Amino acid sequence: MIGVFDSGLGGLSVWQALYRALPFESLLYLGDGARCPYGSRSSEEVCQFTEEAVERLLSKGCKMIVIACNTATAVAIAHLREKYPNVPFVGLEPAVKPAALTTKSGVIGVLATKRSLEGDHFRRAEEKYGAEVTILKAVGEGFVEAVESNEEHTAQTAELVRKAVKPLVDAGADKIVLGCTHYPFLREEIARVAGEGVEIIDSSEAVARRVAALLDEYDMRASEESKPEYDFLTFADDEYAEKLRNKAFQTR
Ligand code: DGL
Repeated sequence: MIGVFDSGLGGLSVWQALYRALPFESLLYLGDGARCPYGSRSSEEVCQFTEEAVERLLSKGCKMIVIACNTATAVAIAHLREKYPNVPFVGLEPAVKPAALTTKSGVIGVLATKRSLEGDHFRRAEEKYGAEVTILKAVGEGFVEAVESNEEHTAQTAELVRKAVKPLVDAGADKIVLGCTHYPFLREEIARVAGEGVEIIDSSEAVARRVAALLDEYDMRASEESKPEYDFLTFADDEYAEKLRNKAFQTR
């Protein structure tokens, strides 16, 4: 069983990629829900909540953990790898590299939470690619809340998306990196504001390929006879767990 963790519903964008790419693997998803959003919380809090989540997933017998949250990865993954040296972890980072290597305009936009944009992973990517391309950053203010309340397609959300995305496009960005796992649920709105000719980059498929490669490396793949199970845990209530399950199987 593979454990997949996020502050809430966002990591289900990664869960969906895993579900498609690895049809024999059982997936145990934990969406905190009680303390979401993480993006504006202190590093200490995010690190503590992430560790609690990992403990819970490991107690259920997960063989590998995907931290399907850019914010939790930025803050906690180094600590987790040190604390659980025998557990393979896969984290999420804004896909600056593919955007920087393929931009034609020389300008890329990165949408993420405040905490992710302040983290070391992003800073390192910025240092590495920032000399050759202009990297613009924007916090998706209100994006996580919109996804958590299933309000992806309201006029209010469209306005939040316009506010964050339009300045990036106006400044010439031809690639927009979705650096938060909640944001793929707003992809349609983001693409509408970005317009034709701007590529939206989501890391979920790349993460699923990384998980597949690690399963092979550790010789951990479920056999083709196995019947996968999909369970959903939360630190919130039963209603939230049901919401997780519904969103996981909802087509986007
Ligand atoms: N989905 C998360 C991320 O990728 C966290 C968003 C939040 O809780 O603020 O960063």
